[in-house]
Amino acid sequence: MKLLAAAVLLSVALASTGSPNSDAPTGFDNKGNGMVDDTTHQADQEKFDDIETVADGLGPLYNAQSCRECHQNPTSGGTSQVAELRVGHQGSDHLFHNAEIPIAHGAEVITGRTLVNDRSICPNAASPDTEIQEHVPNSENIRTTRISLGVLGDGFVEAVADETLVGLAQKQCKESHHKICGQVIYVPIVEAPGQTGVGRFGWKDQHASLLSFSGDAYLNEIGITTRLFPDEVTKLCNTAPEPNDKAGADGLDDVDHFARFIRASKAPARDSKLADTGQSQKGYKLFNKIGCAECHVRTLTTAPAGTKINGGTYTVPETIGSKTFYPYSDFLLYNVGTGDGIVVPMVEHYGQKMYQITWRNFSAQSFHNAQNKLRTAPLWGVRFRNRLMHDGESTTLRDAILRHREEAYESAHRFERMSASDQQAILEFLSSL
Ligand code: HEC
Ligand code: HEC
Repeated sequence: MKLLAAAVLLSVALASTGSPNSDAPTGFDNKGNGMVDDTTHQADQEKFDDIETVADGLGPLYNAQSCRECHQNPTSGGTSQVAELRVGHQGSDHLFHNAEIPIAHGAEVITGRTLVNDRSICPNAASPDTEIQEHVPNSENIRTTRISLGVLGDGFVEAVADETLVGLAQKQCKESHHKICGQVIYVPIVEAPGQTGVGRFGWKDQHASLLSFSGDAYLNEIGITTRLFPDEVTKLCNTAPEPNDKAGADGLDDVDHFARFIRASKAPARDSKLADTGQSQKGYKLFNKIGCAECHVRTLTTAPAGTKINGGTYTVPETIGSKTFYPYSDFLLYNVGTGDGIVVPMVEHYGQKMYQITWRNFSAQSFHNAQNKLRTAPLWGVRFRNRLMHDGESTTLRDAILRHREEAYESAHRFERMSASDQQAILEFLSSL
């Protein structure tokens, strides 16, 4: 009894000083998690919300004018219904090849990408005859859409040690007797040439660093070049000088503000009404029982403050270190039968110098092995989605679950065989996340 009381006192003391393994803060209040003060966080959010124009360097090919256009439900940094188009083809070597997309009546061919941009800045007054809108050629017959992801709480995901994710993969594969084996891929850290980390962001785990992802998105979604991605996708009707993103008075580029905004964001909070119902608590137990939690892992903990990650370029801050959070994902890649056949394109995600650099632990083969795999979708914040799975093609939670096959076949099949009321409990639990 005495011991128990002491333990309770100790855990209360630890929680109040924010020491080892306290929970990551949650909420949708546009306030930060404590990594920076709220004024700085709100200023960073304004950069994330900022509308880029042609004079700023928008395009020439692009999808939207601001990060917020695709990341805003229920607030900046959330998810959205916006889906993007990705295509490629199988070559005579039977391997996947990136798309080749002619623009300007065939005067130029866009290569090195699978993304097909939905918008372009010309024809315009300065270039009235330049037609650069991308279209899918018939030859690019592997096609998919990928829906937007939320970024709230991703600062905690970034700070999980590589070894934690590698350990999860090994343990699970062993315990399931090689039936369920999540794949780890080492991906380039663009801001640390030569260094790699365990991929955890994007539907295909294509990035490990939020700064790398921000640079990738700024170029490929908005068409803004940065110090990390200095080369435009096309120079046709391009007028703004490179890099478009230049440091402000505080010495930070826009990409630095985006990465800091995401790192300092709170994790998604649960639906306070549904989280505590008997039905959703029952659903949570069943979710574990039928094996959903094999991949949708409830709890992860970040590396301690002071740990150097992203190839030594980022030190886990005090407020991010040793935090427990509840993403319902192990961030590993699986074949659950929904693979779209698209291999992560190198130049698009890691820049035109990608092949001039030797990256530690890098294996092109591992990317090909993941051709039909996807990252376990984190289920925190899933209640804000009405289009599910990577392609956004499932419109109900039930449909999304029933699409799970291959490595997730057993758990999906157990779900299918449950009574209607047990199924309902799982759906209510998911709706509380
Ligand atoms: C046109 C829509 C669109 C715009 C604009 C956009 N994104 Fe995204 N974002 C997406 C989509 C789609 C994904 C999933 C991409 C994938 O994996 O294929 C994504 C994923 C992400 C992720 C990974 C989240 C995770 O948990 O895995 C980050 C980080 C991110 N975006 C940051 C940004 C930043 C920063 C900007 C602004 C520079 C931005 N995005 C602009 C659509 C967009
Ligand atoms: C073998 C690993 C694995 C298991 C087991 C598994 N899932 Fe998944 N889950 C995934 C992957 C991978 C995706 C993403 C698939 C895609 O986008 O095509 C996913 C996606 C989802 C989604 C869609 C989320 C979104 O944001 O679109 C839901 C909901 C979901 N799973 C629920 C469940 C439930 C409930 C179970 C148990 C019946 C389960 N999963 C079992 C790996 C798994």
